[in-house]
Amino acid sequence: MTIHIAAAPGDIAPTVLMPGDPMRAKWVAETFLDNPRCVNDVRGMLGYTGTWHGNPVTIHGSGMGMPSLSIYANELIRDYGARTLIRIGSCGAMQPHVNLRDVILAMTASSISTPSSTLLREVNFAPCADWGLLQAAANAAQAHGTTPHIGGIWSTDTFYDDRTDLTDQLTRHGTLAVEMETAELYTLAARHQARALSVLTVSDHLQTGAALPSDQRATGFVAMVEIALAATFP
Ligand code: HPA
Repeated sequence: MTIHIAAAPGDIAPTVLMPGDPMRAKWVAETFLDNPRCVNDVRGMLGYTGTWHGNPVTIHGSGMGMPSLSIYANELIRDYGARTLIRIGSCGAMQPHVNLRDVILAMTASSISTPSSTLLREVNFAPCADWGLLQAAANAAQAHGTTPHIGGIWSTDTFYDDRTDLTDQLTRHGTLAVEMETAELYTLAARHQARALSVLTVSDHLQTGAALPSDQRATGFVAMVEIALAATFP
């Protein structure tokens, strides 16, 4: 048991899928896992462990933003021995060729800072996905009939962002989408020799203002979860 996770030792699988929303963790566990059981509900941050094709898997919420993800990912890795962490989440598209419901595999994530930044002093550490997971997810997406976008994303601390010039420069540099967690997840995984990947679904578009209605969000997320699970157990 840790400060934020009440699971017993052994209740967390080596593979953890992390949606931001705890209710989505419940939905993913109940929809995709066999014999899911709730292993954490401290502060309403739900975690479930079950099996997928016989393999143990935990689905645990990260909350929104890098400070929240950092708390859960640290405890999952350092105290519960998680070795493979896949973020499954939503993002806002930043390129005209990226559409609502598209799947993005984040090769890297830019940020202004993460909870880990000060450790690295003046270095702009380049957080990157685990190559084996990224390759397996690309293959899983193709097998699924989905062509993913693969490239860099932007992990922001500011959801309501008035810095349009900053967004424009990141867009100009080919950034595919914005979300709020991946840069810290990849940095933590690197620090602890764990594997990490973010598999994202486009829920809104910064340029057009289009957004998935909330009732379509869950169904749009099925492909992302299937790709994440298939990438973990190829
Ligand atoms: N900004 C930041 N995070 C997000 C967005 C966004 O537009 N959409 C989904 N997550």
